[in-house]
Amino acid sequence: MMLARALEPESLDHLAPDDPVAQRSRRDLRRVNAFMGARRILARALARAVAVDADDEADAEAEADVAAPLRILELGCGDGRLMLDVARHRGDRWPGASLDLLDRQPIVDAATLAAYGAAGWRARPLVADVIDWAARGDSEPRWDVVVANLFLHHFEGDALRKILAACARRADALVACEPRRSRFALAASHLIFFLGANAVTRRDGVLSVRAGFIGSELGAAWADASAAATWQLDEYDDGLFTHCFVARRPARP
Ligand SMILES: C[S@@+](CC[C@H](N)C(=O)[O-])C[C@H]1O[C@@H](n2cnc3c(N)ncnc32)[C@H](O)[C@@H]1O
Repeated sequence: MMLARALEPESLDHLAPDDPVAQRSRRDLRRVNAFMGARRILARALARAVAVDADDEADAEAEADVAAPLRILELGCGDGRLMLDVARHRGDRWPGASLDLLDRQPIVDAATLAAYGAAGWRARPLVADVIDWAARGDSEPRWDVVVANLFLHHFEGDALRKILAACARRADALVACEPRRSRFALAASHLIFFLGANAVTRRDGVLSVRAGFIGSELGAAWADASAAATWQLDEYDDGLFTHCFVARRPARP
């Protein structure tokens, strides 16, 4: 039987950025992302989103090369280290990419920003609540692609609609890699103490799976928010724990 989606506030969101418990939990998150294969999953989804012909999945990664230099916005970037891993491993596919790192908390440090430079990308932090960002006018900058990892599951209903609608207005593609709401992932989320996770990460891990997505839930939310039938949508599971959603405007003829 399907698990019903249930949203509860996550502990990390309510801890100050300099709280040692929060800092430890963000380090845990890096291990969780590594365990889930998040860097590869996100890079694959990004390649789909910016490929010239997304209908041909076999060519999608190869075709990603031509889309540089990309303007990327990451929503809920945390410490910014996951996209840094993408830049380090796959950055040559999108040379000179510029990356805006949005999070409500000011937690992208100078060393991380410098490391993006060393990887050939230009990154800058944007400290903002995503709902405020979504409410900004369309004269704001545009991006080729918005990415989100373990982020959209924090939202539902009107808030989720506003975020997706803003992405549709202000970008040509959206990539979201979210927790998969399956019984297997839920069972596994109770075991993340094996990764050395603290109490905050252990609690948030379970809540994240309960708030995660399955099937075509994100596509349905997107259709509801974007009011445009022309987008190419791709929603799929990647790995054991991740549910991905890619929306892109079709290439102009
Ligand atoms: C589970 S963490 C994921 C961080 C990062 N994407 C990763 O994979 O390591 C969720 C992030 O979303 C941020 N966040 C939560 N609610 C937010 C909001 N309303 N606006 C902006 N950022 C928010 C939190 O501060 C946190 O860094």
